[in-house]
Amino acid sequence: MARQNTAKKHNGILHIGVDLGTSRSAVAASNGTREWIESYVGWPKDFVSRKALKKEVLFGSEALTNRLSLELFRPLQHGVIKEGTARDGEAAVALIRHLIELAKPSQDDTIQLAIGVPAEALKSNKLALKEAVADLADALMIVSEPFAVAYGRRLLTDTLVIDIGAGTTDFAVMRGSVPTEQDQRTILTAGDYIDQQLLGLLSEKHPNAKFTLEAVRQYKEEAAFVGAIDEIIEVSVPVNGKVVTIDITDEIRRACESIVPAIIDTTMEMIARYDAEYQERIRGNIVLAGGGSQIQNLAATLEAAFNEFGPSKVDCVDDALFAGVDGTLELARDMPQEYWERM
Ligand SMILES: Nc1ncnc2c1ncn2[C@@H]1O[C@H](COP(=O)(O)OP(=O)(O)OP(=O)(O)O)[C@@H](O)[C@H]1O
Ligand SMILES: [Mg+2]
Repeated sequence: MARQNTAKKHNGILHIGVDLGTSRSAVAASNGTREWIESYVGWPKDFVSRKALKKEVLFGSEALTNRLSLELFRPLQHGVIKEGTARDGEAAVALIRHLIELAKPSQDDTIQLAIGVPAEALKSNKLALKEAVADLADALMIVSEPFAVAYGRRLLTDTLVIDIGAGTTDFAVMRGSVPTEQDQRTILTAGDYIDQQLLGLLSEKHPNAKFTLEAVRQYKEEAAFVGAIDEIIEVSVPVNGKVVTIDITDEIRRACESIVPAIIDTTMEMIARYDAEYQERIRGNIVLAGGGSQIQNLAATLEAAFNEFGPSKVDCVDDALFAGVDGTLELARDMPQEYWERM
């Protein structure tokens, strides 16, 4: 992409796009930086861990690796800042601050910050985000993540984007203008839900083996599929102190397929709101994004289901990790001044 390499500032304005995700967050800026981290924030537990780690706060995989010495937070849940404890709020602010630092703003840059969040988090999150970035950015804009994906990929008309993340699956229909509330939906069946299902299925089948959410998520990310595949998926796990190899093919399939019905129902409900001709055009142009779009056979399975209602086409974005943040940055560059909220 030529644009990413131009690395120019415009009148001292630095545009920063942030994709605030439940499991992964990304940042892209008009100075050419583009980074992602896992959405973990950790503070050393005590003076010993602070001395050992030599840091006040850790982020991403570094925080995860050192989790035993940290008070560890994943500050977003279902795409919004958790309301559990004050510490979650603090962790969210620290995460956003860190993402902005990763964009390497220079001191005299005027920062225009666009943050992408799940479609329905727009209303509830606005105030919290505004407070979080008050002293970090000069202007703020909050956009829906599936809209950002569509915009970044120039899918401005006759398109349905389905962004399958960790906490939420977000839908947006593009009709040649900024999508309204009724063009967007958010549901909670996404990657974390699959992990829960997989943990349940495996623990039930192998009661003597110990599985963790982190471990089953890793199995899923390596082997996720729906429908039929020609492989057998095996993992090694300790059972009663001895490492054994178990076949998890069926559990992976069932866990991944657990999100399919809700995605089909929501898609059909959303499409049904438009007139018949438009329904057909949208069905012919459905795009999957987010980490969950990498589930093998998912696009084909959904396409087959939608075909029952009429000719359909389902594709995946080519870069699931950055499609959201690329679009968020592009929106930040293009948005007229009246869309920005001054800080
Ligand atoms: N190859 C893969 N196959 C299936 N799922 C995957 C794969 N890689 C990542 N995932 C899952 O995708 C999810 C993360 O996707 P993404 O980064 O789009 O979510 P997020 O933006 O952090 O979450 P949200 O948008 O819900 O806040 C996680 O559940 C992760 O386990
Ligand atoms: Mg996301």
